Amino acid sequence: MTDLKTDNFQRPIISLRISITNRCNINCFYCHHDGILPQEYEMTPPEIERISQIAKNIEIKKIRLSGGEPLIREDIVDIVNRISSLGFQDVSITTNGTLLEEYALPLKNAGLNRVNVSFDTLNPQTYRFITKSNYIEQVKKGIKKAADVGLYPVKVNMVVMKGLNHREIWDMFQFCKENGAILQIIELLKTESCPDSDFFEDYHYDMNIIEKELKEKATDVKTRAFMQDRKKYFIEDGEIEVVRPMDNTEFCKNCTRLRITPEGKLKPCLLRNDNLVDLMKPIRSGESDEKLEKLFLEAITNREPYYGC
Ligand code: GTP
Ligand code: 5AD
Repeated sequence: MTDLKTDNFQRPIISLRISITNRCNINCFYCHHDGILPQEYEMTPPEIERISQIAKNIEIKKIRLSGGEPLIREDIVDIVNRISSLGFQDVSITTNGTLLEEYALPLKNAGLNRVNVSFDTLNPQTYRFITKSNYIEQVKKGIKKAADVGLYPVKVNMVVMKGLNHREIWDMFQFCKENGAILQIIELLKTESCPDSDFFEDYHYDMNIIEKELKEKATDVKTRAFMQDRKKYFIEDGEIEVVRPMDNTEFCKNCTRLRITPEGKLKPCLLRNDNLVDLMKPIRSGESDEKLEKLFLEAITNREPYYGC
């Protein structure tokens, strides 16, 4: 790990999350839009490729594409092709799954390693309430298809919400096992990028309750070092990972990621927008790789744990 760049808090920078669009075809009421406020334009595939190359130059190992909904971009296969040709350890996408059945195979062939699918409920009415859409069956087919074509692992992201889906965790676990997916349960987060944060008091669920149950049932528990110290519980030939970002100093202490907004700004933290570093002006005015690498290092220097100790 000696060649990794490290920030001022001794956190190595291992992964880059590139939000390639702010647009989405569903409208989840709690969505934090990956911490991004509305954007004016989107980067082109060659610009995304250039940024990924610079990330590679500074020893970043993993790339994740996110959104908005990344599969909404018609050039998504081209983008994945360009990034995976650069030779990263891991190239992944976070998607709402609505277009996954169609894209799983082309993306696999383009070099994608894995997907995380946002899918909070197996109940059609609850799905409609959360997303304002009727794509539930398409998402299920997308998850299955992704596992079938060998994207691995396929993770299902379930944001746990009190009274909405918190009683569905075990059904969702069963669904995941049946479809070759890992369940990732996520604490609801409140951020300045949520369009309306009134939902938080109504729906925030205390993850201690479910974690206690997981501990009792698990035959093994692992902690993901360099991945925000998340816990993975192994239960009856399946796996449940728990993501608890709220007020969690351990989560931030073990954060190893940098982000890019759809407009091409480096974003040091999901939860802040006051320390971004623009890459697009320099790229469009023909700056050298060396200059762009310096801008990456500037963004890394800007990193501070949001929930410090
Ligand atoms: P892998 O474990 O590598 O698959 O990545 P991931 O689980 O981080 O990716 P994904 O995009 O699926 O995000 C899952 C959850 O983690 C989401 O609810 C995110 O909001 C949350 N999350 C991801 N990155 C951060 C972060 O930097 N800070 C905070 N607070 N939450 C994050
Ligand atoms: N709290 C927790 N997780 C969220 N996500 C989106 N908004 C929130 C929020 N307010 C999750 C989605 C998606 C991932 C990128 O972030 O489920 O899978």
